[in-house]
Amino acid sequence: RFMSVGIDDISFYSSGLYLSLSTLADHNGEDPDKYRVGLGQERMGVPAPDEDIVTLAANAARPLINDGNHDRITTILFATESSIDQSKAAGVYVQRLLGLGSNCRIVELKQACYSATAAIQMACGLVARKPGDQVLVIAADIARYGLGTPGEATQGCGAVAMLVKDSPRLLEVHPETGCYSEDVMDFWRPNYMDTALVDGKYSTIVYLKALRQSWKHYRENAGSVDFGDFSRFCYHLPFTKMGEKAHRKLAVTNGVSMDAELLEQQIGSGLLYNRQIGNSYSASLYIGLASLLENDKEDLSGKHIGLFSYGSGCVGEFFAMTVCNGYREHSRREQHLAMLEQRQELDYQTYAELFGHSCPQDGGEHYFPEMAAGHYRLAGIHDHKRIYSETD
Ligand code: CAA
Repeated sequence: RFMSVGIDDISFYSSGLYLSLSTLADHNGEDPDKYRVGLGQERMGVPAPDEDIVTLAANAARPLINDGNHDRITTILFATESSIDQSKAAGVYVQRLLGLGSNCRIVELKQACYSATAAIQMACGLVARKPGDQVLVIAADIARYGLGTPGEATQGCGAVAMLVKDSPRLLEVHPETGCYSEDVMDFWRPNYMDTALVDGKYSTIVYLKALRQSWKHYRENAGSVDFGDFSRFCYHLPFTKMGEKAHRKLAVTNGVSMDAELLEQQIGSGLLYNRQIGNSYSASLYIGLASLLENDKEDLSGKHIGLFSYGSGCVGEFFAMTVCNGYREHSRREQHLAMLEQRQELDYQTYAELFGHSCPQDGGEHYFPEMAAGHYRLAGIHDHKRIYSETD
């Protein structure tokens, strides 16, 4: 039906530090169930002072690179809304850190949490035009709202790296999609701020509107495709409860009654990692996709997955993938579980201190304490230049 292009490999990374949301609830005088049940979150990744989107991204992408693909990656698309520079693309640092060949086009993409999906679509287009080329798509973000704000419990950080090629081993991406865009102010971050501004309740309403409209457009484009054609669904996850709300809404729109069992079957296994990491903005949908592939008890070979990507401001896109036969042989579940298990828990005081010390503003001379757990770290900033180093 369509040329087989899609995701061949997927790997993600989050900081080695986390805050338990029960610790945050205790400090904020909230019932822990508000965060655990109401938002569906347990922990959130907290970046160390010597971590940024480049180190998160390089740590996520490192396992994907080998002698076989090292020189075949012709493009790096880096999606983020936590950019570290107004001019230079973060992917250029990553290319060097990963030791990739120098005949490579590299660009950074931004549209809030949505831009990784634009990157996936563009990558598929490039590969379809020239099969044999491989595109490294990376999404990396640090979600910061500020201490004591309503958004605080929905912070987090993470990066995901995906190799897009022809005849992929994990997922074929369908060409049909449905998009919705509208100029709204539900969440944004002016250049002079290092925390996001958000109209929280409004943002959840716009998210659901964009889902409804993207689905409608998808059905116009995809012909006879129906809700029942999909075995599983993945949603952008600012917090996992949002995914549940979205799925219930989509079911109702299609006249499907959604009980707890069906909800768990259709989206449950995709929520596990995000519940431990928190919001990772552009990476969040794809960390959810990895969670689904690696944790679903059923063999999903040949099954269709519906995905909804949302970026505030806003752009939404509904699209679909088919799971490839034999995908389970290429799972990175052990790597991901080990990374999550080895994280170190923070007490509230340390979390608050780390929050205050991130985002050095003047670009002068800063050297950071060695706290990052991954292979790559941000050693310092000197002469307005970021200095990255490797730990082993
Ligand atoms: N036990 C169980 N549940 C409880 C509870 C308790 N003791 N106390 C409260 N709850 C429930 C509430 O009923 C509510 O659930 P429902 O929405 O289903 O009613 C939930 O916990 C949250 O409680 P509140 O609505 O009172 O929480 P809040 O107003 O303080 O904050 C928020 C919620 C607006 C989402 C806030 O966290 C926020 O602003 N987050 C950032 C913005 C965001 O994530 N928006 C999502 C859509 S936009 C997007 O997706 C892009 C992106 O990544 C930012």
